[in-house]
Parts: sequence; C-alpha cells; structure tokens
Amino acid sequence: MEREVVMKSKWSIFVLACWVLLCLTGCGGNLETQRSVLRVGVVLYTQDDPFINALTDCLREDLEEYETDSLKIIMTVRDGKNDQRLQDEVVEEILDAGCDILVVDLVDRTEPSNIIKMAKKENIPVIFFNREPVLEDLMQWDRLYYVGGDAKQSGTMQGEIAAEVIRADPAVDRNADGKIQYVLLEGETGHQDAIIRTDSVVKTLQEQGITLEKLSYQFANWNRGQAENKMTQLIHLYGDEIELVLSNNDEMAIGAVAAYEASGYQKEDRPVIFGIDGLDSALSAIQNNSIQGTVYNDKEGQAGQISRLAMDLFLDREPEDYDFENERYIFLPYQKVTAANVEEFLHSKEEVQ
Ligand code: BGC
Ligand code: CA
Repeated sequence: MEREVVMKSKWSIFVLACWVLLCLTGCGGNLETQRSVLRVGVVLYTQDDPFINALTDCLREDLEEYETDSLKIIMTVRDGKNDQRLQDEVVEEILDAGCDILVVDLVDRTEPSNIIKMAKKENIPVIFFNREPVLEDLMQWDRLYYVGGDAKQSGTMQGEIAAEVIRADPAVDRNADGKIQYVLLEGETGHQDAIIRTDSVVKTLQEQGITLEKLSYQFANWNRGQAENKMTQLIHLYGDEIELVLSNNDEMAIGAVAAYEASGYQKEDRPVIFGIDGLDSALSAIQNNSIQGTVYNDKEGQAGQISRLAMDLFLDREPEDYDFENERYIFLPYQKVTAANVEEFLHSKEEVQ
C-alpha cells in the first residue's frame, strides 16, 4: 500500500516536471511567434547622397526606439540608383518579399504612380519623403503621406543670411560697382527644393535691397564632384568677377570651395559662399570660414515624423497630432546657421549622441 503511494507521488512529480519543462520551452516558443514584426522598406533615390544617408541613419535609430519585447522592427534600405524604372522594380521586389510600410524618396517626384498602384494593391501605406509628389498624386489613395522640409523657407533664410553678410562687409562687392555679381549652383531640374530655393533666395536678396547681377546658373545635381567641375569652369570664365556663390545644398557649396582651393585662391580672395542642409562638413566649413552660412535641414525632425507615422499606420491608429497640410503633407521648419551660432548645432548633436 505504502509502496503504491510512493510510486504514485513519484509519478505525479514526473508528470509535473514534464509539464513545467514543456511549458518553459513551449511557452518560450510561443512568445517568440507572438512577437509581431514591423517590416519597413526604405527605397532611396540613390545611396550616394550624404544628406539622404544621414536622414536614413536617423530613421534607423528612431525605429529601433519603438522596438519592444513584443514588437520587432526590421528596416531594409534599397537603392533606386537614380532610375525611376529601377526604383519601381525595387519596390515590387520589396512588396513581394513582404513589407508593412514603404518609405520612399522618389527618383522622379512626378512619377509615383506605379509605386502607388502596387502599394495600393497590397494595401501597404507609403510615406514619401524629401522629393515631394504633387497633391493630385498623393490624393490617389488615403494611405499616402509626405514628410519633408519647407523649401521656400530654406531659400528665404539663405537669402537673409547672405544679405546680412553682404551688408556687414563692403569688401564682398569686390569691384565696388554697387552690385553683387553671383553664380548659382542648382540641385536638379524638376526638384521642388531646387526650383523653390533658387527662386526664393534671389527674391529675398532683392527684397533686402541687394542689387544682384546674375553671371551664371549651373545644375550640379546636388553633387559635390559635379559642383566642383562646374565651379572650376566658372572660375575660368569669370575669375575675380564672382562675388557670391549661392548653392542649393551644402554638398555643392563644399564642391565650390574645393574648386577655389584647387584653383589656388586664398580664402580672402574668394567670393562668399552659402549652402543649405547643415551637414557636418558644412558646419566645420563655417567654423573655418570656408563658407559663410547654411540653413539647417531638420533631418532628425523629418525622420522622427516618418517613424511616428510608420508606427501609427502599422498599428492602424488614426494619425493624430501631426501638423498636416492638405491632410497628408508634413513640412518641417529650417534654421539659419552662421559663424555666430554654428557651435549650437555641433553642440546639440553631441548631446543627442
Ligand atoms: C537636400 C539635398 C539633397 C536632396 C535630395 C534636398 O532636400 O537639401 O542635399 O541632395 O534633397 O533629393
Ligand atoms: Ca560688384
């Protein structure tokens, strides 16, 4: 009888142990499968653009912050290689492989239709950024959004900084003819930032009472190397006549600096040069007076809005508390950067790190 009791209790201990073991491994496995996954497919217009790459890094960091024990976030970055057809194919591949939210910097901002069609068919929301689709395109479906900077403001601010520098230093007008002879390095045909920045910087300078004389406008596709080539040609053509270089972005401004360096110009013999973006290279160029100012393009803010929107869309939450324009567009403000406040920008970055 006693023996039977012992046997019974041994048996129940064994069963209990098995059950605990099963639960431990089984439950663990269950937890793993229950952890939901958010797959964010990021498709760039190119992977060769320093501003876009810096923004993409911010986005990765932001998304990581949304990860929890029950949510894993996988961000995949693909290259559109400056070819809209190829970018469309890349989007198709990403959708085929499985993706929950698309984040796209269009090669050609006037050609989002194929991407929109494919995403809509799979019911995958798209957040466009940096290259702004027109309203008509963004209204094709209610799960399309855009996040970018306020282009007009960037040009206006660049013009204000330049006007201040010109007024403060009469030597900028080298030939003292009362006019500022200038060249302008343009980003890219058809890009809203290139068109609007060019237009608003010139208007602002004129409104500020600066008499301008245009020497040449050159497209350099946002690119440092192309800008260096174009600027070298302009230096050969106009030499000391150039008193001001306005650049649609920092990379091209730095390219202009490189052209002056290679042409043997000392800093004091160069025109004043202005960029836009506030990339690290431009901030140090301001510190050593190679360029005289830039306008901070808030990549941190833009990435922050993209990631928050991605989460809301993924969780099927109604996007609330966004500063939308036309229901789907988010524009972040710019900030002026000159020698007077450049430290703040270097500083705030250090604090973030
Ligand atoms: C930035 C440029 C960048 C371009 C790419 C602009 O907003 O200022 O640096 O090359 O976007 O589309
Ligand atoms: Ca002059």
